Amino acid sequence: TTAELESYLEFGIHLAKLAGPVILEGFNSRFSPERAALLVKKGNTADLVTEWDQKVEKMVRSEIAEKMKTHSFIGEETVAGGEECGLTDAPTWIVDPIDGTTNFVHGFPFVAISIGLTIGQEPVVGVIYNPILNQLFTAVKGKGAYLSKIDENPREQGRRLPLSYPHAAPQLPSLSMALIASEYGSDRLNHVIDPKVKSIRNLSAREPSNLAPGRAVGHAHGIRCLGSAAMNMMAVAQGQIDLYWEVGCWEWDVCAGIIIVREAGGDVVDGCGREVTDGQLLTGRRFLTVRACSGEDGSTSPEASLAARK
Ligand code: IPD
Repeated sequence: TTAELESYLEFGIHLAKLAGPVILEGFNSRFSPERAALLVKKGNTADLVTEWDQKVEKMVRSEIAEKMKTHSFIGEETVAGGEECGLTDAPTWIVDPIDGTTNFVHGFPFVAISIGLTIGQEPVVGVIYNPILNQLFTAVKGKGAYLSKIDENPREQGRRLPLSYPHAAPQLPSLSMALIASEYGSDRLNHVIDPKVKSIRNLSAREPSNLAPGRAVGHAHGIRCLGSAAMNMMAVAQGQIDLYWEVGCWEWDVCAGIIIVREAGGDVVDGCGREVTDGQLLTGRRFLTVRACSGEDGSTSPEASLAARK
């Protein structure tokens, strides 16, 4: 029921309030002599994890286990630790304790905890909190999306999303008028990164002759990489970014973002621009906010996926 969803939103905000000061403490301690201890080694030098990610996830997870006894949990660090966390129809909290860990380590302020709740495998409540910028993004299915500060009541004191659209037309006529967000991702093997770089190049190239055949989309106004899937999605939800395109997101990166973007009037689609059912989105393990189709030459293009906004 709506009342239940509202109470889950309250609980999600409560979790954000618990996590915020801990994330902030870690963010501010990066110049301390113990800084080296911040990093926990993973196999890939571009895929960072810190003691703070683990600490925040543990805290949030035990709060959920204590207060929402019948609910399930999927978290980035829990899965990284080897636990099996399959998605079921049961209410499931899907959490990234620190989305934008590389930003967190470097002191770049696009860092957030991302807390999503699915019921019947569909995201229905989303809370994304950036404690560095004190931005709290919230949404409940059917009730709109809001941006507020952590101590404000989102609906009474916050602002409904999107805040504004930079273009007069509600729908973008072409990618050449768009500000686009994307990411290189943490997997830097040639065969993974080359098609992504090619797509970004195709979006940026000015001369039609520079573009891959059949993929001339015109050069975008600009490309931005905020370094956090949640923050990229919230830029779309605010009407600052027209399209966010990434290959290789995980469910904890995007679960909360999906419901907030949708409630802000945006769309989340698969690689071919199709609206996907949420079950498909969330059981895929690795899935995208807006994913590109693979070209025959292995390149990818966001052209068919321009659907960040209705
Ligand atoms: C990552 C960030 C990054 C995106 C990756 C995510 P993490 O999350 O959001 O910007 O490119 O797809 O996995 O590792 O910082 O939690």
